[in-house]
Amino acid sequence: MSTDLPTIELATGSLIPQLGLGVWQADDEDTERAVRFAIGTAGYRHIDTAAAYGNEAAVGRGIAASGVDRSEIFVTTKLWNADHGRARTLAAIDASLERLGLDHVDLYLIHWPLQDTDRMIETWQTMIEIQSSGKATSIGVSNFQPHHLTAIIDASGQAPAVDQIELHPRLAQRELREFCGDRGIAVEAWSPLGGSGSGWGSDSSPNTLLTDPTLTGIAERHGRSTAQVMIRWHLQNGVIVIPKSVHDDRIAQNIDVLDFELNAADMDAIATLDTGARIGGHPDELNLGAPD
Ligand code: A2P
Repeated sequence: MSTDLPTIELATGSLIPQLGLGVWQADDEDTERAVRFAIGTAGYRHIDTAAAYGNEAAVGRGIAASGVDRSEIFVTTKLWNADHGRARTLAAIDASLERLGLDHVDLYLIHWPLQDTDRMIETWQTMIEIQSSGKATSIGVSNFQPHHLTAIIDASGQAPAVDQIELHPRLAQRELREFCGDRGIAVEAWSPLGGSGSGWGSDSSPNTLLTDPTLTGIAERHGRSTAQVMIRWHLQNGVIVIPKSVHDDRIAQNIDVLDFELNAADMDAIATLDTGARIGGHPDELNLGAPD
């Protein structure tokens, strides 16, 4: 069991474990079992879900069954696109909490910026209300580009604590990470291992990062897996990382990364893999599920 997970201090002062379990594309049965195992056996203290994943209730059951006190677990969920706008956002957090069986989440994120700036700002201002109410300890966004971040910060005076973005060795997001770093916004990586190849974007090709020769070469030298090498890369970049797996052996393997380090040559070699290729849709183009 891992007990010394590194943490990152969010703008709110809350500490987020830098490594967590993602559950996108996991069905209810797998989710409940994976969450229970991750927390109860493997030592995870951070779970990342979303209303759109359809598995919040299973996450809640997995947490309850883990035997670990709620106060020790960092739970993130996300506002779905159809719920942008003040009234819907206020109803959506209540519905998520009801499904999770929790009285608050540690982090609530706007899942996508969408293409209606006024409504995006209204939604962010409602997120601030939700934070004030205590239903979310910290609030943030997902898939926001610099212009989206600038719009909500200028309108509200409050920066999101987190921007969760697609981020893996093929899409290293250097500029966006720097932009966030300058504004005290922690960066969180989704599809940190390169995803499953069945995302919401145009690319449905299988994951090729897990077998990439540069990564497998580094992995062999360290006596580790390619997944572990990628997780180390994120940690050493100061990024919050939430690899998804529903398999106990992989869940355990993905947190067993605290006793080795990539050297500068490894980091430089991984940097050469950054082609800018996305698995998911571009945040400026995808308007999935937006309200009329
Ligand atoms: P599975 O749930 O069947 O284990 P990402 O986190 O980038 O979205 O990608 C996770 C994908 O990689 C999932 O399809 C997951 O599948 C798989 N995966 C997670 N951990 C490992 C691992 N340690 N080794 C190989 N594949 C993994």
